[in-house]
Order: sequence, then C-alpha cells, then structure tokens
Amino acid sequence: MKEITITAHIKIYQFDELSKDDQELMTAAMEATKRSYSPYSQFAVGAAIRLRNSVIVSGSNQENAAYPSGLCAERTTLFYANSQYPDQPVDVLAVAAYNKGSFLKDPIPPCGACRQVVLETEARYKNPIRILLYGTDGIYEMKGISDLLPLSFNASSME
Ligand code: THU
Repeated sequence: MKEITITAHIKIYQFDELSKDDQELMTAAMEATKRSYSPYSQFAVGAAIRLRNSVIVSGSNQENAAYPSGLCAERTTLFYANSQYPDQPVDVLAVAAYNKGSFLKDPIPPCGACRQVVLETEARYKNPIRILLYGTDGIYEMKGISDLLPLSFNASSME
C-alpha cells in the first residue's frame, strides 16, 4: 500500500491587511452581490477578477426557475471576461457571498464546476489565478486553483 498526501496552502487575512489592489477587487466582488439575481436561494454571490491589463470585471449569480439553467457568480464573471478580453490573462479572482442580511462569516468555497472552470482558465493563459474568498472573520488567499482542486482533470489527463 502506498499513500499520497496532497496539501493546500491557505493564508488568512483581515480586510485591512490586504493590498490596496486586493481591497479594491474584494470590494468589487462585495458590490456585485447587490446585482445578484437569486430569487430562489436568496443567496447572493459576487465575483470580481483582475485581468493582466488591470481591468476589473465583476459578476454575480444568475438563477432560473429551471434550476440547472442558472449560473454561479464565478463562471458568469470568468466567461464574460474571457469573451470580452480573450487576450488578457486572469490574475486574481475574488468572491463574496451575502445571505440573510450579512456577508458570510466563513469564506464562500466555490462549487466544483466553478473550480473546474478556474482550472481551465489557468491552463488557457498558462497563468495561476490567485483566489481571495471573503468571510467576515477572515479572507482566504490561495495562490492558485491547485489549492482548491487537487488531483484535477485537465487536458494532460487525456494524453
Ligand atoms: N453559487 C455561486 O454563485 N457561487 C458559488 O461558489 C456557490 C454557489 C450560487 C449558485 C446559486 O445561485 C446559489 O449560489 C445557491 O447555491
């Protein structure tokens, strides 16, 4: 029997410990929750990404009465950014969630499908995406998707 241990590295910051750029990006993600369309879950998620050209793109979850037709904030934002700025690598992704009158105490962990799309975006631009997940008790920072999606399926898995 052999065993593999995969570790994830997460740093935890208070908001005022973030750089000014990261504070700006996180604020954009928090603001984006106000534009969420989430009448079914009442769970408002906002995402913001910083592109290589310093442009910030934000988005929010968009739900549908036919549940699977909705889309998470992360994918709404990444797909919009990639379609508007196809030549710009994504450098940082920030996510925040608002529910029952306040932002979440613990960081919002992106769903599996969104993690897979972040992975594809890293591969597409050959560039790790730093991830910031907002919680009122602390903001998690990961250097790239490998800390959220170990043992991932990617194009090289098919070789
Ligand atoms: N949601 C996101 O937008 N991002 C996540 O990372 C997790 C979940 C949305 C999907 C749905 O609109 C609502 O949150 C409840 O699941």
